[in-house]
Amino acid sequence: MKLKINLMVGLVLSFCACKAQKVDVAKSFASAAKQTDVLVKNVDSARLVKPTLVSPRTVENGQFKMVNSRDWTSGFFPAELWYFYAYTKDKKWLDLAKKYTEDIKKEQFNKGTHDLGFMIYGPFGNGYKLTNDPDYMAVIIQAAKSLSTRFNTKAGVIKSWDHNGDKWKYPVIIDNMMNLELLFEATKFTGDSSFYKIAISHANTTMKNHFRPDFSSWHVVDYDTLSGNVRNKLTAQGYSNESAWARGQAWALYGYTLCYRYTHNAAYLAQANGIANFILSSKITPEDGIPYWDYNDPQIPNVSRDASAAAITASALYELATYSKESKRYKAAANKILSSLSTKYTSKPGANYGFILEHSTGHRPAKSEIDVPINYADYYYLEALLRSKGFKQ
Ligand code: GLY
Repeated sequence: MKLKINLMVGLVLSFCACKAQKVDVAKSFASAAKQTDVLVKNVDSARLVKPTLVSPRTVENGQFKMVNSRDWTSGFFPAELWYFYAYTKDKKWLDLAKKYTEDIKKEQFNKGTHDLGFMIYGPFGNGYKLTNDPDYMAVIIQAAKSLSTRFNTKAGVIKSWDHNGDKWKYPVIIDNMMNLELLFEATKFTGDSSFYKIAISHANTTMKNHFRPDFSSWHVVDYDTLSGNVRNKLTAQGYSNESAWARGQAWALYGYTLCYRYTHNAAYLAQANGIANFILSSKITPEDGIPYWDYNDPQIPNVSRDASAAAITASALYELATYSKESKRYKAAANKILSSLSTKYTSKPGANYGFILEHSTGHRPAKSEIDVPINYADYYYLEALLRSKGFKQ
């Protein structure tokens, strides 16, 4: 009987978690814009000292950290500026977005990373949608060609990293699902289906090998390119090989949602629904919807959260809600996350060098970027705010 009552209380609580939450998008955008004015000033000052460092990434130990265009996060700052332009239609943001987007352009030729979706598609994809500038389209197509060189036909996946050859041979990380958007768009622009086919192969192989029966995902799957078999399943940024690293789950959700957007393949929708259910039915995530950095860290609750995972999840859920029968549940969960982020996770005005959100975790095992502001949290937060208003990708 007691168990039954507890179960019922649990059910009511998780249902209450879905109760309507209001997000004041106009107010949230206005304060994010003020923060970003501060950020732009700090970026410009830092670039006077070191012009090769083009984008703001984080604040660590009180220090403002800028990165060069080769960093996987370099595109988020200009991509955020495009979102301010999308929301306000103010020429001020258009000019800023154009200016900082140029700094990332040369990465279209970078064949040493799988992160070209983040680096190139963020700024140039958003830029193209808002301006129809053919130069931006050309950059996207070239970046898709560069990314395609990392595809191996035997394994059927795109290689993520070239580093740490002692730990793995052909590592593929769940984050890599995010780069498929670039390939899908390149096929739309060119009519060349080879990009689309690579994206499909990568998504299908990842669906087969990267997920546990509960739809949580491993971070790294290492492949043997001679046989195409899986060599190992590991983590790099999570608590352990068998744990569920929070941002990895968010990348997976977002990745299969976008695959469904381009293909209408019901298998991708089912995968995204399964991942959403894993995230949303967690008994470990606190009531505000912002997950701990890893679902299986035994030190929970005395560990950092990851606001970036929450922002990515909220944005993905708004899109998934437009495809899924669980639309109400997803929208309510996304609203709850967004309401928490915008009221409890934002920087004080002018603080954190102008970053919008606090409390993300970058790479805890490396003791790096723990409980900090970080550019990709800000980017997906703005995207989620836009999507909550019906903005379509
Ligand atoms: N893609 C790297 C990360 O999520 O930290």
